[in-house]
Amino acid sequence: MSVTKKKSRTNPKRENGKSNTIKLKFDTSWSYAPAPESKSAASIKPQYDLFINGEWQKPLSKKYFETFNPATEEKLSEVADAGSADVDKAVKAARNAYDNVWKKMVPKERAKYIFRIARMIQERARELAIIETLDGGKPIRESRDFDVPTAANHFFYYAGWADKLEYAFPNRKAVPLGVAGQIIPWNFPLLMAAWKIAPAIATGNTVVLKTAESTPLTALKLAEIIEESGLPPGVVNIITGAGETGAALVNHPGVDKIAFTGSTDVGKIIQRAIAGTHKKATLELGGKAANIIFDDAPIDQAVEGVINGIYFNQGHVCCAGSRLYVQESIAKEVIRKLKDRMSSLIVGDPMDKNTDIGAINSRSQLETIQKYLKIGREEGAEMYESGCPLPGKGYWCRPTLFTNVAQSNRIAQEEIFGPVLSVLTFRTDDEVIEKANNSPYGLSAGVWTDKGSKIFNMTRRMRAGVIWANTFNKFDPSSPFGGYKESGFGREGGLHGLAAYVTLENV
Ligand code: NAI
Ligand code: MG
Repeated sequence: MSVTKKKSRTNPKRENGKSNTIKLKFDTSWSYAPAPESKSAASIKPQYDLFINGEWQKPLSKKYFETFNPATEEKLSEVADAGSADVDKAVKAARNAYDNVWKKMVPKERAKYIFRIARMIQERARELAIIETLDGGKPIRESRDFDVPTAANHFFYYAGWADKLEYAFPNRKAVPLGVAGQIIPWNFPLLMAAWKIAPAIATGNTVVLKTAESTPLTALKLAEIIEESGLPPGVVNIITGAGETGAALVNHPGVDKIAFTGSTDVGKIIQRAIAGTHKKATLELGGKAANIIFDDAPIDQAVEGVINGIYFNQGHVCCAGSRLYVQESIAKEVIRKLKDRMSSLIVGDPMDKNTDIGAINSRSQLETIQKYLKIGREEGAEMYESGCPLPGKGYWCRPTLFTNVAQSNRIAQEEIFGPVLSVLTFRTDDEVIEKANNSPYGLSAGVWTDKGSKIFNMTRRMRAGVIWANTFNKFDPSSPFGGYKESGFGREGGLHGLAAYVTLENV
């Protein structure tokens, strides 16, 4: 790291003198020598087949599609595009493994496999982190320090429960559901696979998991780990494909449970598709989290938490703190500090360990974000974006902040899923609770205040599945996660996450 000479303050300047877009001067008072992670520690095959029944099987569809590095637009590999016959094969393999092996296995033996998978993820952590960053565009610091360790922790946590289900559900017998069809998104590809697979197999179910089309590679690496772990064939099947593959899995009559994380629109399609069937479901959908700062909060900490809450992982987070409510008396100070901090964030090469904000996951997601930036300006909000330089190739979005936002504006109501923060103000507790709850979503929220009593008052009255107090985006395998309203239903993580994969019978 080298400290440079110039100490610059952010210097708002209106572009063209008239538009309501203001570019903040990039704060170069700290500059870092590049510290890129090496690609050579990861091996990516040129082509991947489907992992069905413990083997790598060519797709019956005979089709493959490409996955790219969104930071360079370079092709990384191609993966199988599973058709309905492939899905059928995977579900049958899972059913066979369920009936003949997994459900009959002594729970303690099941636990050993899951512990082994957890340890192998740790052993191959560096490779997994590199591939996560190459395939999805998130900064290596995040994949290395958050995604991969948290994925391993989920396997450890649920391995621990596998032979203790009678303590998890006292006086009840936990009976597995059967075959779980699991569909995951592109924002936390390995972690979502872990969230879904670990509790399912710990409770004796078998799995067919479909990755997201733009980020299949770490789940395929996980399939390699599962293969090496010696897990009986068919207990975990990992397939690749797009929406049609997902729909074939949802509609397959041999599936007993659907676990889905993704958009609210697809969540609704899935709910309609399984209505009237025996299939159980947990849906983890979108969000528009309110992050609330009261005037008694430690402001610098709160500002750092807000920055982390919205710019972490390019804002590709369902629980991102995308609506900021600041108490009016401190609004000026908070907005000034946010702008200062925002304009020092480094956007660029996700493989560089200094990078704060990596690449947007895909061209289409970048277009969605840009559409909302336009909507925000048209709605009359004032847009501030960092003046940081962007790489020439790839998909990028500067950290952006809107002020003068009205509660009814689309940028305050709809999920943008990018590094874009809408700032609103409030005067009283009642007002902010009403505003925070005035959303079709209810996944997460944050409260920043010095007073414990205020935290309890807020958390009791807010309709959000997870509420962080004086922190944001903290995850632990033992704590449940999930939403209210259009953010979905069912919980993942903790004991609740186990309950979602069993029926409880009287003993
Ligand atoms: P999406 O909901 O289409 O994709 C999520 C997963 O669902 C992918 O694996 C996809 O292949 C699968 N899928 C798509 N159509 C399906 C269908 N009819 N049946 C079964 N599976 C299907 O999300 P998309 O289009 O990638 O992103 C759109 C928006 O969704 C984002 O801008 C963001 O707002 C939100 N989103 C929310 C996520 C969350 O964590 N809650 C994750 C990803 C996206
Ligand atoms: Mg990719």
